[in-house]
Amino acid sequence: MTELATKAVVRDAAMGLSTARALHPSTVNSPVVAAGSLLNIEQLSVADVAGILATTTRLQAMNAAERARLLAGRTIALLFYESSTRTRTSFELAAKSLGAMTTLVSDKSSSIEKGETLKDTGLTLRALGAEAIILRHPASGAPELLARVTGLPILNAGDGMHQHPSQALLDLRTILLRLGKDPGTVDSKTLAGVTVAIVGDISHSRVARSNAQLLPRLGARVILCGPVELLPKTALGLDPHEGSPLEIARDFDSTLGQSDVVMMLRIQKERLAGVSLDLAGYVERYQLGVERLAAYAPKALVMHPGPIIRGLEITGEVADGAQAAIELQVAQGLAVRRAVLLRAFGVQV
Ligand code: MLT
Repeated sequence: MTELATKAVVRDAAMGLSTARALHPSTVNSPVVAAGSLLNIEQLSVADVAGILATTTRLQAMNAAERARLLAGRTIALLFYESSTRTRTSFELAAKSLGAMTTLVSDKSSSIEKGETLKDTGLTLRALGAEAIILRHPASGAPELLARVTGLPILNAGDGMHQHPSQALLDLRTILLRLGKDPGTVDSKTLAGVTVAIVGDISHSRVARSNAQLLPRLGARVILCGPVELLPKTALGLDPHEGSPLEIARDFDSTLGQSDVVMMLRIQKERLAGVSLDLAGYVERYQLGVERLAAYAPKALVMHPGPIIRGLEITGEVADGAQAAIELQVAQGLAVRRAVLLRAFGVQV
């Protein structure tokens, strides 16, 4: 055991933590990411995704008291360096519904404001007993760093423009439910024949990236649609080429005409530095309003990860309309995140 590791064991022992915990690979700068971490969507095989969906369905069928026993006595920290409503609340409610104790640390009201590093905040949370950390951070790759310095299972709740894996899982479950498919399983053909358009600010969207990396693996055709300022050819680092599962389109109306599912995205103003965009022109070409929807995609499922900016990428009428599944997405967030949390702790149901 290295000197640092020995110190960590001594410290953990002094704090009354169990030997198992003291010997956790949490000793410092572990090359190993703890099993149960969810850092990106690509790490999950189709079988892993099917397993998470099956767990979600089983958890939905349990009563509240049964669910509350699953993580009773466990401690989960939520560490948020960016604002969040849906992701934070659903992770927190999911953890509490499984019986876990949660604590929330946000950059606005903690020592992060005084300059504490991610590493030190993570080690502090671990020293206080956190057994898993849910992290949202503006820097791509921050969850992996935290996983390596703490050795704890880390759940990526959105890192910069990189990944938002649990969002892709909840979006998938919403699609399955609304297309009348079994939401408890998938394979590589489940979405064969289904065309999904992801529309708007693709280049700054971790939601777009995670979905674009998941849905084609389940058989879906994915069209990325937006203006060149928000969707350069190299969007997502996955330049569409022959054989690529991704297509790029500029014409929203014709994209809508081919789509069964339309995912609208918010313009990520906080990440637009250096991008000049004519907003009025954008609204004219890419806003999803009732007339456009009725004309080109009267049956398509309309999704949005939120927050929606009514009157910009989507009109209020469409967001509140029968084709929209925005609230269903939020509800599936709670359901899927319970399964992801159980996976983090290696608990099977
Ligand atoms: C995100 O955190 O990426 C959101 O769910 C989407 C957005 O912020 O527009």
